[in-house]
Amino acid sequence: MAAKLLRSARWYMASDMRAFAHRQRTQQMGFRRQDFMGKPVVAVVNTWSEMSPCHIHLRERAQKVKDGIWQAGGFPVELPALSLGEVIVKPTTMMYRNLLAMEVEELLRSHPIDGAVLLGGCDKTTPGLLMGAISMGLPAIYVPAGPMSNARWRGQKVGAGTHTRKFWDELRAGKISQEDWVELESRMTRTIGTCNTMGTASTMTAIAEALGFTLPGASSIPASDSGHARMAHEAGERIVAMIAEDLKPADIFTQNALRNALVTLMALGGSTNAVVHVVAMARRAGLKLELEAFDAAGRATPVLANVFPAGDNLMEDFFFAGGLPAMLVQLHDRLALECRTVNGKTLGENIATAKVWDADVIRPLANPVTKGAPIAVLRGNLAPDGAVIKASAADPRLAKHRGRAVVFKNHADLSARIDDPSLPVDADSVLVLQSAGPKGGPGMPEWGALPIPKKLLAQGVRDMVRVSDARMSGTHYGTCVLHVAPESHVGGPLAFVEDGDFIELDVEARRLHLDVSEAELARRKAAWIPPPLRYARSYGVLLERHIGQANDGADFDFLEQGAPVPEPEIF
Ligand code: FES
Repeated sequence: MAAKLLRSARWYMASDMRAFAHRQRTQQMGFRRQDFMGKPVVAVVNTWSEMSPCHIHLRERAQKVKDGIWQAGGFPVELPALSLGEVIVKPTTMMYRNLLAMEVEELLRSHPIDGAVLLGGCDKTTPGLLMGAISMGLPAIYVPAGPMSNARWRGQKVGAGTHTRKFWDELRAGKISQEDWVELESRMTRTIGTCNTMGTASTMTAIAEALGFTLPGASSIPASDSGHARMAHEAGERIVAMIAEDLKPADIFTQNALRNALVTLMALGGSTNAVVHVVAMARRAGLKLELEAFDAAGRATPVLANVFPAGDNLMEDFFFAGGLPAMLVQLHDRLALECRTVNGKTLGENIATAKVWDADVIRPLANPVTKGAPIAVLRGNLAPDGAVIKASAADPRLAKHRGRAVVFKNHADLSARIDDPSLPVDADSVLVLQSAGPKGGPGMPEWGALPIPKKLLAQGVRDMVRVSDARMSGTHYGTCVLHVAPESHVGGPLAFVEDGDFIELDVEARRLHLDVSEAELARRKAAWIPPPLRYARSYGVLLERHIGQANDGADFDFLEQGAPVPEPEIF
């Protein structure tokens, strides 16, 4: 490869004092001149951390990636990046997705990097890594961490997240004991890897693959399968060729690829979080994407992946059934098969030989898991800029519902009162949570599956209509209207809902209506006092001033498309 074509050559190949220092300092780390001179320098961006259980194997995988890069004639450098362990990071990883995206972009820009292999998988890391890479525009390949293996408890399949919520409700209803609950702690997440349900991690890594950012089949390989290490090795080999071919994100992430991602999301019965992330990724790439495109994809594409929470299997079953390539074969007439992918082939070429080995786990179009739209986009006077509902994980009985609002002002209010025996709530009530959006949460936490009040659990109630500007974990389920925009914190209509107001949900009509007169709503709006700013310093200031609404992807306004950023001066 001609060294002058490499971006890294600006650092290494000049004959001035600075280039001397760059070569000198690289040799200081024990590398020989011939290890890096004239070679493509590949960043292995690693989100490994001991606070990120889903990524605990990524150190070993990074080594495999590096082996591949060396063997293909590149020079690998591992760059640690912010790790966002979904369960542990507070108040929510979503608060830091944009920070990770910024970090990735600036890591790649500020170092002598020619291409990148991105290692992640836990929920926000996939969009964060890809958003940064899309903005930087260098050749990049994604290595998903892979789902954890199947787990069972007392004979039944149990999935991360989905069954945590299920058993929590059973515990609160007195159906399982405290001892059972403690035993479950060590049984449900028994191997390395990301959540083994069709949560946000499995959804986003599959979307990354459908977009063409991973090697074929990569997103379905369980983390503990030996094939996962081989996939990492191959990704390292492949990125060196991608740099030679100058195959960049813009060549892969096109309007047609975006359509493929939406079809894939629906057929997976995937997480509603993907709506926010895919919009943000599209806007980074300058692609057009309205919420209604999700709705149209949902109307046309039933759920084919029989995986929790929409179905009743786990990601390892999905892998053995043929994985994502086999599911995409079922959808071939709805996909733009000519889209290019990181291995240099088209999506159509990549899935040409894929087969379904278990037609119950990966269903044909003639026998879907659920028939209605997996995700529907709602509008109405309560959500003028849109809201979403995961219809495939909701009780069909509640798809058309009218009930009185029980309003919680924020999450603390919800926690304090939800199990209060005197709470005026019944099975027909609509639980409303305010102050949980991108600014209000802050960071739009996954509070959208509001818990069912304990007294109703005891009566056997397991689902209710819930409305909020929050998100919901992809592993959760229930009739939860999410991402209401504009959010209550900025004066969206959700801020004006009061106890006892009637709310109407009609999923078929895509309608979310607050049955309060316009005059009364105007009166409440006039009396509304905007909440004060929360942060005087720190990253929170950036978030409070620049984060967008859910329907716009909740990205920072200054990170979306704009004039090209100049390359750093080297002196
Ligand atoms: Fe990491 Fe679910 S907690 S993927």
